[in-house]
Amino acid sequence: MIKLGVNIDHVATLRQARMGAEPDVLEAALIVEKAGADGITVHLREDRRHIQDSDVYNIKKHISLPLNLEMACSDDIVNIACDIIPNTCTIVPEKRMEITTEGGLDAAGQYSTVAKVVERLQNKGIKVSLFIEPDNSQIDAAKQMGAEFIEIHTGLYANTEGEKQLQELERIKNAANYAHGIGLIVNAGHGLNYTNTQKMAEVEHMHEFNIGHSIISKAVFTGLYEAVVEMKKIVRR
Ligand code: PXP
Repeated sequence: MIKLGVNIDHVATLRQARMGAEPDVLEAALIVEKAGADGITVHLREDRRHIQDSDVYNIKKHISLPLNLEMACSDDIVNIACDIIPNTCTIVPEKRMEITTEGGLDAAGQYSTVAKVVERLQNKGIKVSLFIEPDNSQIDAAKQMGAEFIEIHTGLYANTEGEKQLQELERIKNAANYAHGIGLIVNAGHGLNYTNTQKMAEVEHMHEFNIGHSIISKAVFTGLYEAVVEMKKIVRR
C-alpha cells in the first residue's frame, strides 16, 4: 500500500500572509495525523516564505508521524536539520524567485556538493531522499552517493495532458522500475491531485507520495481531515 505524506507548507503560507499565528501549523499536523496520513512533510526554504524554523521544531516535538524535511543544499538549513533530526530529509533544488520547486535536483551535475550533504545528514542518523527527474543518470547518482530514497518529480506529468502525459507516466514507470532494481526506495510528488493521482498509484514500486497544494486547496472547502481521508482513499489503490 502506498503511503501518503502530507505537505502542510501552505497552511504556513496562509499564516504568513498576515504574519500572525493562524492558521496554526501544528494544529494542521495534528489533524493530518488523526486523519490517517503516514507522514508530515514541510519545506524549510532559505527565504522562510512559509514554514519557519519553530514550526519544524514544534512538529518534531509533538507529532508521532515520521517527519520529512524538504531542504536545499544550504549549510544553514543542513545545520538546522542536524539539530532537529527529522526521520527523512528530501534534498530539493531551490531558486529564490520560483513560485514552487521547479524540476528535480541535478544530483549528477552537482555530485560532490549533494554527496557531502547526504553524508552529513546520514551521520546524524537521518535517512536521505533526493528529489530528481525520472532519469537514469540522476538515479545512478543518488544510488552512488548512498541515498536511501529518491522522490520522482511528477510535475511534468501533472502539468501535461493526453499523449504527453502518458509518455511522462511511462518515463516515471521505467524510472521507478530502474531505481527499485538497484535498491532504492521510490517516492513521488509534485502537482499530484484528486484526479491525476490514481494513475500514479498504479505505478509499480511506489512507496510514498508527498502531496500538498491539492490537499490544502480542498481543505478550504471540506476541512483538512476530510481532504486527507479522500486522498488517502486514492493513494491506497
Ligand atoms: N515533493 C517535493 C519535493 C516538493 O518540493 C513539493 C512542493 O513543496 C511537493 C512534493 C508537494 O507538491 P504539491 O504541493 O504540488 O503537492
